[in-house]
Amino acid sequence: MQHLNNGSMSKTSNLDRVDGRAKVTGAATYSAEYKTPGVAYACLVGSTVARGRIKSIDTKKAEWAPGVLAVITHLNVAKPAGYQKEKNPSNLGQPLQILKDDTIKFYDQPIAIVVADTFERMRYAAGLIKTEYVKEAHETNLHAAMDKGKMPKGDRFKDYTRGIENDYKNAEVSIEAEYVMPADVHNPMELANIIAKWENEKPILYTKSQGVEGTRRSIGDVFGMSPEDVTVHSEYLGGAFGMGLHTWPYEVAALIASKKIAKPVKLVLHREQMFTNVGFRPMTIQKMGLGATKDGKLTGLTHEATAQTSTYEDFTEATVGMSRFMYDCANVTTKYRIAPIDYGTPVWMRGPGEATGSFALECAMDELAYKLDMDPIEFRKRNHAEMDQEQNKPWSSKHVMECYEAGMERIGWKNRKNTPGTVKEDGWLVGYGMGTGTFGSSRGKTAVGAKLLANGTMVLQCSVNDMGPGTATMMTAIGADITGMPVDKIVIEMGSSGLPKGPTQGGSATTSSVGSAVFDACNLLNGKVIALAAQQPAFKSVKPENMVFAAGAVSSKNNSAKSISVTDLLAKNKLSELAVETESANTEEAKKYSIYSYSVHFVKVLVNPNIGKIKIAHVVSCADIGTVVNEKTSAGQMYGGAVGGIGMGLMEALEIDHRYGRAINNNFADYHVPVNADIIKQEVFFVNKKDPYSNPMGSKGLGETALVGMAPALANAVFNATGKRIRELPITVDKLLFT
Ligand code: MOS
Repeated sequence: MQHLNNGSMSKTSNLDRVDGRAKVTGAATYSAEYKTPGVAYACLVGSTVARGRIKSIDTKKAEWAPGVLAVITHLNVAKPAGYQKEKNPSNLGQPLQILKDDTIKFYDQPIAIVVADTFERMRYAAGLIKTEYVKEAHETNLHAAMDKGKMPKGDRFKDYTRGIENDYKNAEVSIEAEYVMPADVHNPMELANIIAKWENEKPILYTKSQGVEGTRRSIGDVFGMSPEDVTVHSEYLGGAFGMGLHTWPYEVAALIASKKIAKPVKLVLHREQMFTNVGFRPMTIQKMGLGATKDGKLTGLTHEATAQTSTYEDFTEATVGMSRFMYDCANVTTKYRIAPIDYGTPVWMRGPGEATGSFALECAMDELAYKLDMDPIEFRKRNHAEMDQEQNKPWSSKHVMECYEAGMERIGWKNRKNTPGTVKEDGWLVGYGMGTGTFGSSRGKTAVGAKLLANGTMVLQCSVNDMGPGTATMMTAIGADITGMPVDKIVIEMGSSGLPKGPTQGGSATTSSVGSAVFDACNLLNGKVIALAAQQPAFKSVKPENMVFAAGAVSSKNNSAKSISVTDLLAKNKLSELAVETESANTEEAKKYSIYSYSVHFVKVLVNPNIGKIKIAHVVSCADIGTVVNEKTSAGQMYGGAVGGIGMGLMEALEIDHRYGRAINNNFADYHVPVNADIIKQEVFFVNKKDPYSNPMGSKGLGETALVGMAPALANAVFNATGKRIRELPITVDKLLFT
């Protein structure tokens, strides 16, 4: 991993993951692993029809099976108080009210909860339930449901035109094309899981969530209580990619079951249920129209997208967003629709909206570049947007041009020919392609606590959790930079309610939000410890501005003999700790700018013309994420994001048998994701230039943009190799050979 510029790196920017040892030794405790005496085991039994009603459900055999503690269906469930409300107010809510009535809205919708004293007895009993349905005709094919497309509520989803509507049609050179993105499934290694219990009528959850406070709110809504009455622990996550941004039926189910049997309940979804009950990236059909002058100036851009949603929840994402601001263009039209089908509800998945939208935009840019007989990077450079034309604001920082240059150099772009199918190596067709990605970099309100303890450690506290990017490591690094505390004396407490309220981990905003709050809290703590030391007789003649807190002691800049450790300082003042808590939020200054991160992915592919096999020979990903706060975890995000994009481009698709409305490839044998052997050579780079406005560190978001732009880079490389333009992901052998 390298930087194009390392001017802004701090001394902690190469810190190892502080939780790395705990994770690799198994000491890290994931939700279902909490030792819980007397825990019972629960599972969800799913519907075997995609739409209709339950005519009858026979649970007798299951109830009489050995060890069974409860079989709960819509007929005997104690409905949570929040089910009385028509709409759930929380945006992380639970619109599918589990077991509310006899209606079936999608295949594998939970129709029963089975609880037993052991895992095996629970599984056995679950197989004894007999259900009869009144089937209704279902539709799970988005192509057939396009006429049901509706404009979602909210200003950001309204039809948009800047300049002349659909002006691409009037251009000297234009293209029109339709791109199909199938549904992709998050499939983190760690299954969705929970241990739920009740104490004093209040729920306690150990659950897989990306937002402790969000889960408190939505569980509070469901059970008709204040979020403050809900305890949530979500300390380690084995990947999530967005699936943990929603409270799901399984979490409510475990709480219902625990309440019923008055015991703690553990519920772990099986892999098949990960394809139906915890969201996925929605299938989206996109139409692009692009027009330019003969010398490559974009004059018109139209982007229309229709995505699937469920029949019970309007899921939305910013699919057409990038088309409004990425390139300089006077005439831009976007339309976004969602069409309900009879399948579970989608949810955000890494690079939500932009990942799908960039596939259409960046392929269309490539298609128009070929039509203009122009290098696709040259075409992008000619249409570089110097400001955000959508919001009419300046960029806070934008170093996408440096990303183009670095990537071209590293991938060997000079070996690319603009005529497809003309470069060969050992009988394989060689293709080069690139795609640009972007994602908004936001900063939200966050509280952080910082305290110095008598034992010489500093504790940083925030209820934010970490789905994997390395949040604790980032907090440690910033805390160490600001306070001068040694890294091994910093303790991070996070991922549980009761701590100062942190944000949901999502939208690539955690470092910006939580990191800024750590920055503020630690500066406050510095001031407090120096003020306390200033009262010591030894510092009587030293001005506070000449006092410095570092390595756990306050000393004088001018007189090295004067020094007092925090331990001594606390003892002398008879204090057990010195604590501060801050709430940190975005600034008015930052709001004057459009703050985006950028990634540019380059790929070299080899395509076997006889069997249609694609080999990825080389991947180069370069990103502008402002200051790189931590090299290792940032590189990890970038490698992983690019690999996720390779899955999206070449392998992943949720296949549904529309006769039954059922997922066919609901397992890891049939749902393919990339493995190490699929990627021969991968490099990542960062521009690493401080953003002047984003936050005190000058960092921008990374997790999402790391994936955005990779899938179109692959499609463009495959076209360059073969002359075949595959507009439906993933690009598989059958499409290459037979279209
Ligand atoms: Mo990200 S899709 O906000 O976890």
